[in-house]
Amino acid sequence: MSKDNPTIGVGLLGLGSIGIGVAEALLCHSERLLSKAKIEFDLRQILVRDIEKVRAIRIPSEILTENPSSVLSDPAIQVVIELIGGIHPAIEYVRQALCSGKDVITANKELVAQKGPELFELARKCGRNFRFDAAVCGGIPIIGPITRDLQANDFKSIHAILNGTTNFIITSIEEKAMGFDESLALARELGFAESDSSNDISGLDAANKLAIIATLAFRSYVDPAKVYFEGIQKLRSRDFLYAKELGYGIKLLATAEDREDGILVRVHPALIPVSHLLAKVSGIYNAVQLYGSYSGNIVFHGQGAGRWPTTSAILGELLDVGQSIFTDHAFHSILPVIDGNKPMRTILDLEASYYLRMTVSDKAGVFGQIAEILGSVDISIASVIQKDADKEKGTAEIVITTHPSREYQIQESLAILSDLSVVSTVNNVIRIEELSS
Ligand SMILES: NC(=O)c1ccc[n+]([C@@H]2O[C@H](COP(=O)([O-])OP(=O)(O)OC[C@H]3O[C@@H](n4cnc5c(N)ncnc54)[C@H](OP(=O)(O)O)[C@@H]3O)[C@@H](O)[C@H]2O)c1
Repeated sequence: MSKDNPTIGVGLLGLGSIGIGVAEALLCHSERLLSKAKIEFDLRQILVRDIEKVRAIRIPSEILTENPSSVLSDPAIQVVIELIGGIHPAIEYVRQALCSGKDVITANKELVAQKGPELFELARKCGRNFRFDAAVCGGIPIIGPITRDLQANDFKSIHAILNGTTNFIITSIEEKAMGFDESLALARELGFAESDSSNDISGLDAANKLAIIATLAFRSYVDPAKVYFEGIQKLRSRDFLYAKELGYGIKLLATAEDREDGILVRVHPALIPVSHLLAKVSGIYNAVQLYGSYSGNIVFHGQGAGRWPTTSAILGELLDVGQSIFTDHAFHSILPVIDGNKPMRTILDLEASYYLRMTVSDKAGVFGQIAEILGSVDISIASVIQKDADKEKGTAEIVITTHPSREYQIQESLAILSDLSVVSTVNNVIRIEELSS
């Protein structure tokens, strides 16, 4: 190392998919970082669960450790990068690092969604940086723009595609008319889905990310447990065909709104106009549309996960934190302010139009019975499509779209419809979002 440049000691917690990217950049391409910041980053220790494990990267054995204190108590380590994941023991390590005067960078969305305000406060008290851009949308810079570049705005809404695995599956179902299981298998084969992708499929992963973005944008803590979420399991290629006929695409949409009566935050499949930018986001890509009071709508688009996009976000923060260390810790402008305490609304407070696909008896008078039930709870029908009839079973499939209705009315009508003898199955119910560009 050159004596001319200042050096910052770095400790890594975790050497998995993302840790390997960060370690490779620090160990093998350090000159790239040096050329950008004129700072040497010295990767001193890497904490793992099992030092004997075979890794996809050669790491000098003296910097691998199973002992967290080797990282957290090393006075020469100024920046700790947490890439373990989960809440425990990550939170204990992060607290210890901040309290012992180290800056922290993390990619851990669960940790930030559930414990963000506590950790922002602790970092503020300790006078350290706590950076988490990589926790949401991998390579897409979204936290920095909300907390810095766009901070003069009051944000009113967020509409986003926050999970690359589900967007890949949706795109395969839509474009290749694949079944759900088949497209999930393809996502696994190509490395876009983990062996346990239940948190992706169920919408929980997107809910955690949305909770973080909404908390920062609305400056009021959004508890991830209060984010309504539904997954993509019920989507079939025929839903995409019907949606297209109606002028829509389907996405797993994450939506947060700061309304007069409180904050409503939800993740679920949604029909969105085909002409909207978000409808064109395909494969593993993510996108976030923010509406700011001054900026109007802004859309961010890019790769939301994966080794290198996430490493890009982490290294960007490392460079920033490194520079702040040599300019008297400019952390104040970076730690988010969460000073609001806005009430949370539930999904039952939603007003939207709905798409209903059901299998019904193929005989006269059926549609009249369904229309009567919807009318009895004040739901008005906007359109009806009937195409496929199964002569053998004596059934037909119909798709109804409604004019704007309240969620509780829809739930009430579904309960009545499912008891109706002429309705065999309600196959899918999807909310329709008339997004503005
Ligand atoms: N993967 C992505 O695309 C992505 C994108 C954005 C954010 N993130 C976030 O980045 C973080 C890391 O993700 P990843 O995909 O790299 O995870 P990963 O592949 O599962 O790696 C986790 C690493 O942490 C180590 N570890 C786990 N528990 C530990 C403990 N108790 N003590 C010591 N070491 C422990 C593991 O050690 P061993 O190797 O010895 O088992 C492993 O090296 C997570 O918070 C994730 O949500 C990931």
